[in-house]
Amino acid sequence: MSTTTISPSTSQQRKKVTTLMFRQKKEHGEPITMLTAYDYPTAMAIDKAGIDSILVGDSLGMVVLGYENTLPVTMEDMLHHARAVSRGAKSALLVGDMPFMSYQVSVEEAVRNAGRFLQQAGMDAVKLEGGRERADVVRAIVGTGIPVMGHLGLTPQSVHQLGGFRAQGKTASAAKRLLEDAHILEEAGVFSLVLESVPARLAEYISKQISIPTIGIGAGAGCDGQVLVTHDLLGLFERFTPKFVKQYANFHAEMNKAFTEYLDDVETKRFPAVEHTVEMSDDEWDMFQKEIK
Ligand code: KIV
Repeated sequence: MSTTTISPSTSQQRKKVTTLMFRQKKEHGEPITMLTAYDYPTAMAIDKAGIDSILVGDSLGMVVLGYENTLPVTMEDMLHHARAVSRGAKSALLVGDMPFMSYQVSVEEAVRNAGRFLQQAGMDAVKLEGGRERADVVRAIVGTGIPVMGHLGLTPQSVHQLGGFRAQGKTASAAKRLLEDAHILEEAGVFSLVLESVPARLAEYISKQISIPTIGIGAGAGCDGQVLVTHDLLGLFERFTPKFVKQYANFHAEMNKAFTEYLDDVETKRFPAVEHTVEMSDDEWDMFQKEIK
């Protein structure tokens, strides 16, 4: 492991993170950090913390828009949130997640939609789910100069085909297929690969077998980087938290506390107090009284 730091993690004016830096971090054995964001203030805070990359994930369908799964999320939803994120984050590598049916119908549509993330929403790269069945689409998008991040293992857009949000690659044959898909995506040109909810020993093996960095979520410590859904990390999403999440805060409880205190303050007339109030001089007030007589 090298002692050279590819990107300083807390510098105020750090350099823009690039896909090349992802590759260099893997070569130096330096973990890549990634979180999701869907809005301006969260993107700003993540960027300021020095996180390498922000994924505008289609998980926003569940944690922000309240859907049961990610399938209803549209290109317009994604672009709307991606624009807000790109206004807030100037250094992190920004990855826009291609939503369900934005890249499955035809290669042309996939390329056009990938382009919209860069042209209309300030993203630096796109991510899409799937293995061998997406190789042509990956090749075509990469061929236009747009960096693509792959996503294997638990691919939430296939939730109905997978029979639920369940871990993948747990049998010898499934593991072999996953390894093959990783090689196929690497050959097709992805710059990085998300491995979601797969056995740690398989994720570590794949990470060693391919030259592009793997980003794990529920895939153990052997990946080249880690990503989490920010709402899970912050404890903002109460409905359900996957086993692999480490919760660093309980913002849902904090919000609840703040809202009930506000309610109490308003009901008991403790808020607004004098310091929250706009004043008017006595002279102006007297003149006003005369004006309305
Ligand atoms: O949509 C998302 O947030 C994702 C991550 C879980 C990798 O795809």
